[in-house]
Amino acid sequence: MTLRVIDTIQNRKICLVIVTKEDKDREFLTQKLQRYLAWLSIKCRVFGNTREGAAENQSQVSDVVKWLKEGRHAVAIIDNSSITPTNCEQLANVFKCYSVEPLFLEYSARAGEPSVDSTSQSQKGCQLSNTLSYVKLSKEPHNMIINRVGSYLQTRIVFYILNINMNGKSIWLSRHGESIYNVEEKIGGDSPLSNRGLRYAEKLSELMESEVGDGNLTVWTSTLKRTHETAKYLPYEKLEWKALDELDAGICDGMTYKEIEERFPDDFRARDDDKYQYRYRGGESYADVVNRIEPVIMELERQDNILIITHQAVLRCIYAYFMNVPQDESPWMTIPLHTLIKLTPSVRGVKVTRLTTDVPAVSTYKEKGSSDITDNPEGTSQYANLLTEVSEQKQI
Ligand code: F6P
Repeated sequence: MTLRVIDTIQNRKICLVIVTKEDKDREFLTQKLQRYLAWLSIKCRVFGNTREGAAENQSQVSDVVKWLKEGRHAVAIIDNSSITPTNCEQLANVFKCYSVEPLFLEYSARAGEPSVDSTSQSQKGCQLSNTLSYVKLSKEPHNMIINRVGSYLQTRIVFYILNINMNGKSIWLSRHGESIYNVEEKIGGDSPLSNRGLRYAEKLSELMESEVGDGNLTVWTSTLKRTHETAKYLPYEKLEWKALDELDAGICDGMTYKEIEERFPDDFRARDDDKYQYRYRGGESYADVVNRIEPVIMELERQDNILIITHQAVLRCIYAYFMNVPQDESPWMTIPLHTLIKLTPSVRGVKVTRLTTDVPAVSTYKEKGSSDITDNPEGTSQYANLLTEVSEQKQI
């Protein structure tokens, strides 16, 4: 009897080839895809531009196949300006011989415009053949054609590509205002804001009005009281997401870190040892949160001007996605209360502006190896202090 092995994401080997005229578009798409896949723990490597023609392309193909076959790797991205629609078919045939699924992404600024440099006559007017798996995207008008996209992982990649918004826009991120539980050093729960937290809520409304005025903005909150109270003075449309609720601390919900260390010392240590993967008993891990907020990220990519009011762990996961923070570092980042973070993604990277307020708040940061709350995290990771990442800082 033959046993059929069910394909998991890990068993799929995809080679994604990006075909564009402009280097900057190809780099932008490559970076975004690489960041998205890494954030989802899908192994991915970019094979860069050789600019040396066919012979070099051939050796690049061998490198890609070797890397994909080596381990449980899933997606190789070819970011090579000498790939044109004409050599795509050749490339596809080679990959298929090695059981690698080729997937092509063709991007052009305007519909009908050649996606590669039309100064080379041989490339003029070339089309990706209908036998290939591909996505063709054009910016003006926003148009897409999808052909022969089959496997789960291919579909997931294509769905992400379709949601990428190439227009400049900003995203504002804030934790809720200081809550009663924050003051009592307890985690989880659904407590209301402290008086200082309510003052931050008023300040946040002023901050956002100075940022967007009466322009377009949508506010996303979790379903928890402290985010609703923080959003209450904001004169903009509001939308509640269950997916934005804080990491579920399971049996530890409502405890302080000290109580957890005393009652569940093994769990306390295990979480410090691998904070990204550790799942609270009856609760969640950071890896779980990333999976649950993926639809939020997808929607964020599509939307313009969004303010997200959420919680410490969730905000770390969102920030890690935009700033490409490694998984073992992201749970240790400081995201202080009463601070608004503005992210402005562009082809050149993400500009971070940190807007601080004069409303004081407690710290909720716990160092690795201790159950104390500390105001000045001491380099648990290079991302421990978010200030290192900030391109601009404003005090309101
Ligand atoms: O302390 C505030 C809080 O939002 C808790 O509700 C939550 O459990 C915690 O932060 C998450 O942070 P960490 O993963 O560092 O414990």
